[in-house]
Amino acid sequence: MNNRPERNTGNNTVLRTRNLGKQVSSPEGPLTILDDVSLEIGAGETVALIGPSGAGKTTLLALLAGLDRPTIGDVQLCGEDLTAMDEDGRARVRGRHVGFVFQSFHLVSSLTALENVMLPLELAGAAGAAARAREALDSVGLERRTTHYPKQLSGGEKQRVAIARAFVTRPSILFADEPTGNLDAASGDRVADLLFNLNEQSDTTLVLVTHDRELAGRCDRIIELEAGRMVS
Ligand SMILES: Nc1ncnc2c1ncn2[C@@H]1O[C@H](COP(=O)(O)OP(=O)(O)OP(=O)(O)O)[C@@H](O)[C@H]1O
Ligand SMILES: [Mg+2]
Repeated sequence: MNNRPERNTGNNTVLRTRNLGKQVSSPEGPLTILDDVSLEIGAGETVALIGPSGAGKTTLLALLAGLDRPTIGDVQLCGEDLTAMDEDGRARVRGRHVGFVFQSFHLVSSLTALENVMLPLELAGAAGAAARAREALDSVGLERRTTHYPKQLSGGEKQRVAIARAFVTRPSILFADEPTGNLDAASGDRVADLLFNLNEQSDTTLVLVTHDRELAGRCDRIIELEAGRMVS
């Protein structure tokens, strides 16, 4: 199922930004929340994005994943220029290449764990959605929670469902915004282990926002933002 090449050392660029910036309007006039961010991330790399609250980490992740548009600069994701695309185009690229894990899980409350994981496959019109979703839930240790609704799951379990949902489409790149932020230490460790294991097994590039220095230290590289600018 996974036709991607062997894990490599990041020679193939999956993500590149040039002079990326984001301005928003405020009552005091335009406010620059991201300024002149140029970076390159290779296939299979694990990258931690760190920095104080308000530094622009979530803003940057949303631009990298094509969830939002920059004011200036461009984003190339898997060879596609996100900046030149409209929302439909970006949604197509996201569906094909991107997985996303949020701090607050973002599961659909009216769907079971299995149905939540099936959702991206069904949206993509993929065959065998139920079997693949079951396999993904197996891989995060939730084979006995398939019929549970989100409210019947613990925080750690919800995040593992969210990880299964993010990985079930075998994305080229996974973005995770403080995936352990709402979890206790033990559940957080388990979620982090899963992300790194899945990264290794499927050669998925991982870009992770975290306030946890230890978690950041497990990544191949750390990018630090301060007041909207890259400082390292
Ligand atoms: N749509 C918006 N309109 C106005 N200001 C915004 C908008 N989005 C973000 N900001 C501002 O931009 C700055 C960066 O926000 P962002 O959410 O990216 O920070 P962050 O680094 O993720 O912080 P945290 O660690 O608290 O999650 C903040 O000062 C925030 O208030
Ligand atoms: Mg944030």
